[in-house]
Amino acid sequence: EELVFNEPFRPQYHFSPPSQWMNDPNGMVYWDGEYHLFYQYYPDSNVWGPMHWGHAVSKDLVYWEHLPVALYPDENGWIFSGSAVIDHQNTSGLGTKENPAMVAIFTFHDPVGEKNGRDDFQTQGIAYSTDKGRTWTMYEGNPVLKGPGIKDFRDPKVFWHTESNLWIMSLAVKDKISFYASPNLIDWTYLSDFNPAWAAYGGVWECPDLFPLTTEDGETKWILFVSINPGGPQGGSATQYFIGDFDGTTFKTTTQSVKWLDWGADNYAGVTWSNVPETDGRRLFIGWMGNWNYAQVVPTHPWRSAMTVPRSLHLSKKGDDYLLLSRPIEELKKLRASQAEIKGEKIQLENELMELDLRTKSSDFRLELANAFGEKLVLTGDKENLRLDRSQSGIIDFEKGFANAQIASLNEIAVETLTIYLDRSSIEVFVNGGELVLTSIQFPKQPYDKLRLEGFEPSNRAYSLKSIWRK
Ligand code: FRU
Repeated sequence: EELVFNEPFRPQYHFSPPSQWMNDPNGMVYWDGEYHLFYQYYPDSNVWGPMHWGHAVSKDLVYWEHLPVALYPDENGWIFSGSAVIDHQNTSGLGTKENPAMVAIFTFHDPVGEKNGRDDFQTQGIAYSTDKGRTWTMYEGNPVLKGPGIKDFRDPKVFWHTESNLWIMSLAVKDKISFYASPNLIDWTYLSDFNPAWAAYGGVWECPDLFPLTTEDGETKWILFVSINPGGPQGGSATQYFIGDFDGTTFKTTTQSVKWLDWGADNYAGVTWSNVPETDGRRLFIGWMGNWNYAQVVPTHPWRSAMTVPRSLHLSKKGDDYLLLSRPIEELKKLRASQAEIKGEKIQLENELMELDLRTKSSDFRLELANAFGEKLVLTGDKENLRLDRSQSGIIDFEKGFANAQIASLNEIAVETLTIYLDRSSIEVFVNGGELVLTSIQFPKQPYDKLRLEGFEPSNRAYSLKSIWRK
């Protein structure tokens, strides 16, 4: 019999740790039929602390199996965020070509160095596994990359760059991204920096990711993700992205406006999966459904935090500019238990786990989810903005700013469709197949069971979803 995670607010189809504190997704890599998800984890408390890498695997990105902690702090420090790759050519010598090593590249955060006022307390290290990520060995020559003496020097995301026959690392260095290259994941050479003046700053830059995407017309551009904290559009943490070109040494943007991967308050530090087979061809993403402004005080127990639903990323051309689209992955359709036509404007919801597919021809619309306590979550649209009001959504008093309206600028997007994923304590809104996304968490004392719609087409679709914990 499967463990049932059924506490108040426990996500039923979003990934969350069995217990204790989780933040960023780490080391996502596909290998031998499994999607690996590692994550920033503190097994001794449900607030942030000495970081480990928690671990889970999935065959379909929908159903997850929890595995033991993969990486523990050692004499080099706590294990901060990073990535994982499959070393197919055995460049590192840590596996063989027949059984290539899964190599994790992460940041060591040395709390003693930090306490002693040193400014070189973040370094990069590697660890490897030759048994499908089940057991890990720290590389004995760690750390493999020491900083230039800048305190914030972290979150390596590594990929194999075929054109130059080298591994490329994107690294967050205070408020810029630095790129490094290596033939073997062990010896790293500095390449270049990226920090355009017009970008969004506010605090530190964190968790970069650099990858190519091709438009439907066959044009390839490089995307750079940069998570920032604070400075997000709703306050606190959020992820901006840049679109441009990467020549193996330097990343240059070709457009000059700040772009948000997600306009909601609760999608941070997300990056994409490595080693997804070419036959699949998707760029798969998952983010941490939290915000540093309040993630450590949300009213959940004995765990804290969840991930977003996995999303696939697509690039579309829009005039002279490009737009990144985020879509819930197709596999999520497996969760659909039953489907109903939504007719009329007041609907009784049978289930707290829902996918709503709504259509509108009006620039003004309103959607309200409410329960018998009078708690409600309200999503409204007008010509300029999409707006989510969680000020009466349930428990909100753990942080002052939590009640603030979340306003997303539609930026010339005419809303036609809304795909909405509702779990026990989150909502994810995808506009027009991912042209704009808004992810947000809420804590109603009772599930919302009343849906009120205004400004939508007369008939829409609602799917009741299954919990992944009850198979
Ligand atoms: C982002 C972050 C990373 C860091 C990790 C520590 O949320 O601050 O920059 O590696 O969390 O847990």
